[in-house]
Amino acid sequence: GEHTQQMELPLRPTLFDFNGVSMTKYFTDNWVNIQSFKGRPDDIVLVSYPKAGNTWVSYILDLLYFSQTSPDRQNSVPLHKRVPFLEISIPGFPSGVDELNSINSFPRIIKTHLPVQFLPQSFWEQNSKIIYVARNAKDTVVSYFHFDRMNKAQPEPGDWNSFLQRFVDGKMVFGSWNDHVGGWWEKTKTRSNILYLFYEDLIEDTEREVSRICSFLELSPSTDLKKEVTEKSLFNNMKHNKMANGSADEVLDFKISPFMRKGKVGDWKNHFTVNQNEQFDEDYQRKMRNIDLSFRTVL
Ligand code: PPS
Repeated sequence: GEHTQQMELPLRPTLFDFNGVSMTKYFTDNWVNIQSFKGRPDDIVLVSYPKAGNTWVSYILDLLYFSQTSPDRQNSVPLHKRVPFLEISIPGFPSGVDELNSINSFPRIIKTHLPVQFLPQSFWEQNSKIIYVARNAKDTVVSYFHFDRMNKAQPEPGDWNSFLQRFVDGKMVFGSWNDHVGGWWEKTKTRSNILYLFYEDLIEDTEREVSRICSFLELSPSTDLKKEVTEKSLFNNMKHNKMANGSADEVLDFKISPFMRKGKVGDWKNHFTVNQNEQFDEDYQRKMRNIDLSFRTVL
């Protein structure tokens, strides 16, 4: 955001293996407090691999729950404060756990990128509602590349080719994309408190997906409110909304790339060479062979 130059920011972290998943200290330093976090039955946990559309759905949820009861919230509190990021702990900023513990509006909407095996146990015990957002791997890795360039709290991305290779190797912050989307998908087979959404579906018909979200959450908003939420959450409207476009987040450098970058399905075609695409597909098919999940990479 805007304050990048004035702020003394911590250095870019390095990746390390954390119980089989690549992570950085900014998401593991607070581990004990994360794992013992007390979920509530009325919590809504919004889970995704990085760059799948978490911010988009968090804004939809915030509007559904609060736009009528607390309109001020929309123009005075940045989205990342309304929807705290559970596992984040960057020196000089309040941790996600501390932010969550100081929230006094309900329900709490909680952002996380944790793979399924790392979700704090109490969310399972309390049967909290969980919404998972998945996005096709190719657009995810492109979005992640531009994000790591502009987010000073992420490891150095290097060049595109080596970044893509790291993604294929599963050596990204929050680990392998395949393990993440597949692990959470498996979980939906034994738990009814998870709604599994796709970014591509949201792009195709936002209002239809807003309706699905509402039935899962047992909300029955008026047609007008549903239309308003859909409209406000359109890419161009969010991009120009200072409270929802990431510009209030100090670790992001918009001079390098905007947080609300493209918001499209298929931008990968502007990044992958023919050769990279062939190699990616081959590896992808092998890894996804036993996972009954399919993604659209074009609409
Ligand atoms: S993060 O930082 O990991 O939480 O990122 P996340 O919010 O999950 O994903 C960011 C990408 O989602 C796009 N985005 C949207 N697309 C369409 N419509 C709306 N309203 C919207 N809001 C966010 C955002 O632009 C990032 O994708 P790319 O491809 O980089 O544009």
